[in-house]
Amino acid sequence: MLTTPTKEIPVAVVATEKKKAPVYTAPTKAPVKQSILLGFGGFLSKLPQIQHNFSPEPREYTIQREARRNAVKTSFIHGWTGYKTYAMGHDELKPLTNRPSDPFGGWGATMIDSLSTLLIMELNDEYARIMPRISKINFKVDEDISVFESIIRYLGGFMSAYELGERKQDSLLQKAEKLAIELLPAFDTPSGLPHHLWNPVQNKPNNRETLIAEVGTVQLEFMMLSQLTGNPIYGQKAQAITDFLDNMGYEHGLYIKGLYPTAMDTHQGRFKNAISSFGAMGDSAFEYFLKEYILMDGRVPQYARMYIQSINSMKKHMLRQVPGYDLLLLPPYDTQHMQHRNSMDHLTCFVPGMLAMGSVTLNEPEDMEIAKGLLETCVFMYRTTETGLSPETWSIPKTVPYNPLTYNKTKTQLAKLRDWWYNDELINPLLVQPKNGSETVREETKETEYSTKYQLPPVKQRPDSLYFGDKRYLLRPETVESLFIMYRITGDQKYQEYGWEIYESIEKWCKTKSAYASIRNVERKREDGDEEDEEFNQIDSMETFLFAETFKYLYLLFSPPDVISLDKFIFNTEAHPFLRKQWNWDRIFKK
Ligand SMILES: *[C@@H]1O[C@H](CO)[C@@H](O)[C@H](O)[C@H]1NC(C)=O
Repeated sequence: MLTTPTKEIPVAVVATEKKKAPVYTAPTKAPVKQSILLGFGGFLSKLPQIQHNFSPEPREYTIQREARRNAVKTSFIHGWTGYKTYAMGHDELKPLTNRPSDPFGGWGATMIDSLSTLLIMELNDEYARIMPRISKINFKVDEDISVFESIIRYLGGFMSAYELGERKQDSLLQKAEKLAIELLPAFDTPSGLPHHLWNPVQNKPNNRETLIAEVGTVQLEFMMLSQLTGNPIYGQKAQAITDFLDNMGYEHGLYIKGLYPTAMDTHQGRFKNAISSFGAMGDSAFEYFLKEYILMDGRVPQYARMYIQSINSMKKHMLRQVPGYDLLLLPPYDTQHMQHRNSMDHLTCFVPGMLAMGSVTLNEPEDMEIAKGLLETCVFMYRTTETGLSPETWSIPKTVPYNPLTYNKTKTQLAKLRDWWYNDELINPLLVQPKNGSETVREETKETEYSTKYQLPPVKQRPDSLYFGDKRYLLRPETVESLFIMYRITGDQKYQEYGWEIYESIEKWCKTKSAYASIRNVERKREDGDEEDEEFNQIDSMETFLFAETFKYLYLLFSPPDVISLDKFIFNTEAHPFLRKQWNWDRIFKK
């Protein structure tokens, strides 16, 4: 049911009256058929455009961008080759000892999680070589399987690869459905909230506890599976969860609207704690409210309502600012006692990307400012360390509640606000909406600036009270994910430059002879004696999201902006893109 490719709308048509650097146009090849990576060019959304209108690039800049893109691809291939050589078909490769490990059912998690990246990087032969292995995967194992991880890594990986492979590999869709059939019994709980762990052979759960992130991160995948298979059951199970969450209240342990605590009981269908988090254990539940709204192209207002509710409560209660800095902190929050924590984890760094997308989709200008401030914090945690890599967690005890009237305001701006504060006649300068009724918050028609000599300002001194908790870097993707999204939305080259610095640090510290390793202590310098031992600061672990997300987002950050455009695709939380289109959702919603 592919939409007919229509004529591609030019990405940017710029009147060139002023004298400008010569514009580089790629040599035109014989007419090629529309590439799936460009989304077939056939989808016109009802929602506001997400991506910036990029102007044509100067040639020099294109050369540099392509060199960076190729460097990322080469790194991916290095890791992939190590995995293939020592651990093919297993879940992970241990990058120091070159042994396999199987924490995800042993179904080849790295292999499946890499499929969509292989296609995006146009490594089609590698992709084809995996296909014969797909049909051999056996989901009936006598082990406790994580329902959530199986859905985001495997199910998401199969379906995204099926679509990006132009629906030629039926085995991918068949496997996706087989896996979903194994997991469906895990949804048969009194509340409809799925179990956290499920044993497909014994057909029973391991316990009743689960997390909001786990019940709130199946919707995109199950909705898509219903679309691709024509069987509405998956989408209906997912929608039942959303409806359940939507109807929860004080009596279920939900103390503040939209701020769902992390721990849940699948049997009683209520919360087991009061801590709400946009990082570990909470994160993607909030992400999926917005992404479902976008996947269904705005057809279901419930998702936008739930997303806005959560974000508004987050801004009001959870968000903190650091005096003297443009840094924002989003720590977990005790919704019962109204108390904030001081720490934030790297997982939270997906939030800037989410807020930026929500900002343009739902016309919430303030969210874009918050996105920028949070992203500065995430990037700061990389730039301020010895290795240029971010710790897993950090704390800033000296913060004050976020206040749009004072956050990152100059003296002059503050003076203006002061006038407004004391004079009822004046309009709040912060509420000035974008001019001439333009429907998005984006600064339209501004020409993209490109420079091959871009210099990032040096990193500021650390806030006095900042300290690191867990000093490991686990090859996590969230910051580069937000950098990619922010770059595609604003066109601000700063975000590419930040990403390049991070990439170079990964190359310098994480690379091993066979692949890439996590880092033990991002603050550790090379000391005497360490020169001999390249592995002195490395951990024997390489999670699959390095291939699915970190390298993919870095690669896309340096790709032409119409490759996997945010206006044509929506990424699941494991960075597997699904095609956006006018799907038909009637069968799922009609009871
Ligand atoms: C903070 O304000 C300065 C000066 O107006 C601006 O250059 C900077 O981008 C702002 N920071 C953020 C994170 O928005």
